[in-house]
Amino acid sequence: MEVIFKVIRQRPNSSPEVQNYLLDVEAGNTILDCLNRIKWEQDGTLAFRKNCRNTICGSCAMRINGRSALACKENVGSEIAFKPQLGSANRAEEIPEIIIAPLGNMPVIKDLVVDMSSFWDNLEAVSPYVSTAGRQIPEREFLQTPEERSQLDQTGNCIMCGACYSECNAREVNANFVGPHALAKAYRMVADSRDNNTENRIEEYSEGTKGVWGCTRCYYCNSVCPMDVAPMDRITEIKQEILSRKEKSDSRSIRHRKVLIDLVKEGGWIDERKFGLQVVGNYFKDIRGLLGIVPLGLRMLTHGKFPLKFEPSQGTPEVRSLIEAVQKEEGK
Ligand code: SF4
Ligand code: SF4
Ligand code: FES
Repeated sequence: MEVIFKVIRQRPNSSPEVQNYLLDVEAGNTILDCLNRIKWEQDGTLAFRKNCRNTICGSCAMRINGRSALACKENVGSEIAFKPQLGSANRAEEIPEIIIAPLGNMPVIKDLVVDMSSFWDNLEAVSPYVSTAGRQIPEREFLQTPEERSQLDQTGNCIMCGACYSECNAREVNANFVGPHALAKAYRMVADSRDNNTENRIEEYSEGTKGVWGCTRCYYCNSVCPMDVAPMDRITEIKQEILSRKEKSDSRSIRHRKVLIDLVKEGGWIDERKFGLQVVGNYFKDIRGLLGIVPLGLRMLTHGKFPLKFEPSQGTPEVRSLIEAVQKEEGK
């Protein structure tokens, strides 16, 4: 079957351009097979990364039909089936098209090759090595039980392809945020029974919005990860670890989560008047924080959006018992 590959090509400091390549392919050909053929048979100047051709090395991540994926994993048949959902024409007489673009959130070096420096720097920023400093070195090695090792299975599958980083909405707007790949690795360190640096890690990963509190929970990293690492779930696990060790007074992010749960338990939904005062105003201890939300409060008041009284939800007892059941499970 004939397929048009629309490749977004770019050189540094120049605007991207679309170049079309027509290929005769099989439905089972991978996108990487097709790019190789374009390069070998039609245009040797096309640049892209590849290595293992087998979903192992993570080199060939790129945007295929609008989302980040591995070119050696996705094939022509499934891409063509996927494309109509994007709203393109799918009339039988038309030649199907597959759009290939470079990863996002990283500058393009050439065509589909991006500069991954920030990706690696952010990984380094979470100290992605098991720390055994200060521990008695055993005679043979640090042993783990099968149960302890199994905690690391899912996050250990990461092949550092960059697909999650490319799609991360938080990363797009916050240059300090280290990104989902780094935090999935951070979880691997927190969960590793051989690491004895958990206290410091928890402090570090909890800092401002560069760590776990920078994640906006958009779920995109989970949906594109080709190895089922589910970075957002790993971030949530670090958050739970932080919340179990920290008090409301420790930071606004901690207060935000804890106050939210307390208020929903109390009234079935959030009493926004108390929420602002307790989270931002730290129970009237943070005067600067309180003054900071006064303009917002006044704007809400003048637009009739400031709730003057609070009506608890009729379902409060059910909501409360649901939260308590979850908390009991987590406690186990
Ligand atoms: S869930 Fe969080 S880490 Fe994952 S892509 Fe969205 S903002 Fe980024
Ligand atoms: S977490 Fe998944 S998407 Fe992100 S770098 Fe690792 S393998 Fe790739
Ligand atoms: S070439 Fe190695 S993962 Fe695709």
